[in-house]
Amino acid sequence: MYDVLIIGSGAAGLTLALSLPNSMKVAVLSKHELTEGSTFYAQGGISAVLDETDSVESHIQDTLDAGAGLCREDTVRFVVESGPEAIRWLDDIGVPFTREQTEDGTSQLHLTKEGGHSHRRIAHAADASGRAIETTLLDVAKSKNNIDLLEHHIAIDFITTRRLGLKENHCLGAYVLDKKNCKIKTFSAKHSVIASGGSSKVYLYTSNPDGSSGDGIAMGWRAGCRVANMEFMQFHPTCLYHPHAKSSLITEAVRGEGGKLRLPDGTRFMPDYDPRAELAPRDIVARAIDNEMKKRGIDSVFLDISHKPKDFIVEHFPNVYENCLQFGYDMAKEPVPVVPAAHYTCGGIMTDLDGRTDVDNLYCIGEASFTGLHGANRMASNSLLECIVFGHAVSKDIIKRAEEQSNKSTSPITHIPIPDWDESRVTDSDERVVINHNWDEVRRFMWDYVGIVRTTKRLERAHNRMRLLLSEIDEYYSNFRVTGDLIELRNLAIVADLIIQSALQRHESRGLHYTLDYPKSDPSLANVDSILDPIRVS
Ligand code: FAD
Ligand code: SIN
Repeated sequence: MYDVLIIGSGAAGLTLALSLPNSMKVAVLSKHELTEGSTFYAQGGISAVLDETDSVESHIQDTLDAGAGLCREDTVRFVVESGPEAIRWLDDIGVPFTREQTEDGTSQLHLTKEGGHSHRRIAHAADASGRAIETTLLDVAKSKNNIDLLEHHIAIDFITTRRLGLKENHCLGAYVLDKKNCKIKTFSAKHSVIASGGSSKVYLYTSNPDGSSGDGIAMGWRAGCRVANMEFMQFHPTCLYHPHAKSSLITEAVRGEGGKLRLPDGTRFMPDYDPRAELAPRDIVARAIDNEMKKRGIDSVFLDISHKPKDFIVEHFPNVYENCLQFGYDMAKEPVPVVPAAHYTCGGIMTDLDGRTDVDNLYCIGEASFTGLHGANRMASNSLLECIVFGHAVSKDIIKRAEEQSNKSTSPITHIPIPDWDESRVTDSDERVVINHNWDEVRRFMWDYVGIVRTTKRLERAHNRMRLLLSEIDEYYSNFRVTGDLIELRNLAIVADLIIQSALQRHESRGLHYTLDYPKSDPSLANVDSILDPIRVS
């Protein structure tokens, strides 16, 4: 039995693991290699109030503005106030943030700027901030004896007392497929944590790695957690447009450092859409690009920072520069073709400020969670911050509850026997094509019908197709032995359905949810979340 089972080895999961005391036995699972999650690919950096001309109130206000009337103010304040401490913690454990010399010869963190931020407040490690954070967290985790790091282990479902026939709903752990040994293991744990990242892979084009299939959101939902605001899927405005450039983000910091968006003839268009032009929040920039592309029938727009000296570009954006060069574009000499792509899941499993979900002993942190921080549109670089802040918050709550438990003579849940995974009624599949086909179909119609600009008719089309696919996938799941692909497809389909249901429910346009049938925001819907109740599992 583990004290804490953490599903996910990204910034959220590893921060939590490192914040727990050495006396607790912790398992951290990753369904691929340990580094393979969105965290590793993060570019721009992590936001916090670190400059003396900046203020907590200003970071709060910018976050609220980007969130378009749906942020929870208590969450925003909690996260922003915890920001400087979160960066200090990362700095202390050795994250190699980019520094600059001050006039008096001391060194301080270099801060960059991104969309929606009214100040320079993004700490970064050149343009590979996520890699620096992930590898540092992982190195420290590897040195700890109390943490078991298990890669190629994909969680299937939580084990809950309700599933075992009891009235109360406590989480007892999870069933997990060890992909290398093709074995399903039972992980029992006093506390379980969803830290499995987002679900942008439901879209055909995405900046995310392949694993962003929303597993934790679907697992939490099946276990009895409420899910909120799934219609707010964020599209990053600038991914490199090239047939072979998979998931090639061009960081918003390029625009923060002066990059301009241009049409094929060189004209700028963002000033026509928003006074903040290229540094408007992401929903506005992505929608403007989408509109220009559709209106003019063009395949991409262009991001231009060629007016800056080559040395500046290479120093600030070494990886982006190199990546573009590999695809034949020299950022120092020419504009680079860009398109929007699905990037971030603003909704997720509902939690409180301690990261607790609706299921007892089950927490959720990081991109899989809905804490109320991002509202209808996440501001750049607030996500990594949320991962660190809530990783720390959950560790405090687990420590507190463990102390409370140890003061009681017995823990009611550790005595409940857990049955092994039952494979007696399934066989190996002879129709694997169904998985690939359905996977492609979901991602294509999500892109076409549930993308940047929506209509009720398109959403209904998607909804109808989803009903059929869900029942087909369900049938397949009950007849055949589970594989990694099948687990992901089942989750991807559920999350796609949650996105469609939430989008159909919101009769207005707000932040990232834009529909031609309700093109304006409805003031009566400010602060009204789209909350979906969980499936009642008997
Ligand atoms: P992830 O880092 O995605 O990790 C998820 C983990 O869960 C992985 O270990 C995965 O293997 C595991 N997992 C998933 N499902 C299962 C399962 N069923 N069983 C077992 N394990 C599972 N945000 C910022 O704030 N600043 C940025 O500069 C920034 N840049 C970005 C650039 C890119 C290209 C992308 C894709 C995102 C960026 N973001 C950025 C967003 C940010 O990186 C993510 O929101 C954040 O890293 C999510 O961290 P996480 O720990 O929640 O999940
Ligand atoms: C970027 O670097 O543009 C991504 C930042 C983010 O998603 O927060």
